[in-house]
Parts: sequence; structure tokens; C-alpha cells
Amino acid sequence: LAAPAVVIAVDGPSGSGKSSVSRAVAARLGLAYLDTGAMYRAATVWCTRRGTDLSDVAAVAADVASMPLEMGVDPEGPGVVLDGQDVAEEIRTTAVSATVSKVATNLEVRAELKRRQREAIDAERTGGFSGGRGVLAEGRDITTVVAPDADVRILLTASEEARLRRRALDVHGAADASAVEATRDQVLRRDRDDSTVSQFEVAADGVVTVDSSDLDLEQTVDAVLAVVAKVTGTR
Ligand code: DC
Repeated sequence: LAAPAVVIAVDGPSGSGKSSVSRAVAARLGLAYLDTGAMYRAATVWCTRRGTDLSDVAAVAADVASMPLEMGVDPEGPGVVLDGQDVAEEIRTTAVSATVSKVATNLEVRAELKRRQREAIDAERTGGFSGGRGVLAEGRDITTVVAPDADVRILLTASEEARLRRRALDVHGAADASAVEATRDQVLRRDRDDSTVSQFEVAADGVVTVDSSDLDLEQTVDAVLAVVAKVTGTR
């Protein structure tokens, strides 16, 4: 008899290592991987391309309702295809990072993307990329809003210092004092913008916190896998 599908929800702030950890865990367990932040980023590219004013709430909502987005869910290389075009790189540009919160705070956009995210998760329960093994979905509101019924719900946190250090390494290739200072404003502003979207820094009831501050990638992956084994072993 095939094992039942597992749904894993992972939330956390930027710089917690969420994406790399989530992809590695999904790959290890043979699960599909859904990057919901990439969907908000793709929506931002779509509206911008159409020349829509991102503060025009109704126009942005209408654009996103008809957005032709196909999310790849292979953790080894999740493609993001918008209107037939691969935008996996474009969605990571600083221009998109700087404007995405305008789109992510649009409540109609959130409702539409939540609907699409639930559809993608449900497809993996019975078939899809994982062949019914299941899915790991990551974002800001997955444990609370999108999949509060997930089998495993994890909040991945890291101290401000650790998040600044990782961001400085990403952007500047160094984590000395001046590189950390250069990223401080950007990281703290993103946190502030994102926290108007949803409260993701405190674990909701039943959500297990994994603190990656003093762990490297491999150790964080192991910590998450241990939580998954513990929770699914007892269900
Ligand atoms: O995780 P990320 O940096 O790719 O997320 C991009 C933006 O989308 C960020 O501003 C937070 C927002 N987001 C959200 O509001 N809800 C999610 N489930 C995922 C991301």
C-alpha cells in the first residue's frame, strides 16, 4: 500500500534560509516544492509588464485574476513560466524585490493566489509531480492561511544578525561589518513591509519553530527532517 501523501508547510522571514532548506528537504523526501513567494513576484512582473499602476488595487487584482502563470514544482529546478516565458531570473531582480510588497498586500491578489496555491497542493495529494507523495509549500502564510491543515507546519527563524550576515554574503560576497551595514536597511524594510502582509515571526498554535541562527544549510535541513520524521511518525 502506498504511503499517504504528506503536506509540509514552511513559513519564515527572508534570510532564514527558507528557500534553500525547503528545496533540499522536498528533494530528499521526493516531494513537490511550491515557492509561493515566486508567485507574488511573478504577479509583480505581470502587472508591471502590463503597465498597471501597482497602487491601483482594483486594476492589479484584475490583472492577477487572469495571469497565465505555470509554477514548476520540481525542487531540483522549479521553473516559473509566465505567459509562456521563463521568468525564474526576472522575478529575483532588485526592481521586483523592491515593489513586490505592493502586490502582496493586495487582499484580492492574496485570495486569488491562495486559491491557486491550494489547487497546486491538492494536485500533489493524489498525483501531480510527486505522484501522490505530497508537497512542501513555503511562504509567509502557509502554516496559517493557505494550509493550516498541513501534516507538518514549521516556522523557520533566524536572528536578525544571522539574516543580515547571510544577505550580505548573497549580495556582496562578504559578511564583514560594512557589507552587513549596507544590507541592514534593505532587510529591515522588507521585514516591515512583509509584516503588514501577515504575522509570520511568531509561530501559530501547533507550528514547530526551527531556529537556524547557529546552523549551516545541511544542519538546518537535518533539523527540519527530524521535525518531519517526529510529526509524521506519530500521526
Ligand atoms: O519569499 P520571497 O522573498 O520570494 O517573497 C516575496 C514577497 O512575497 C515578500 O514581500 C513576501 C510576499 N509573500 C507573501 O506575502 N506571502 C507568501 N505566502 C509568500 C511571499
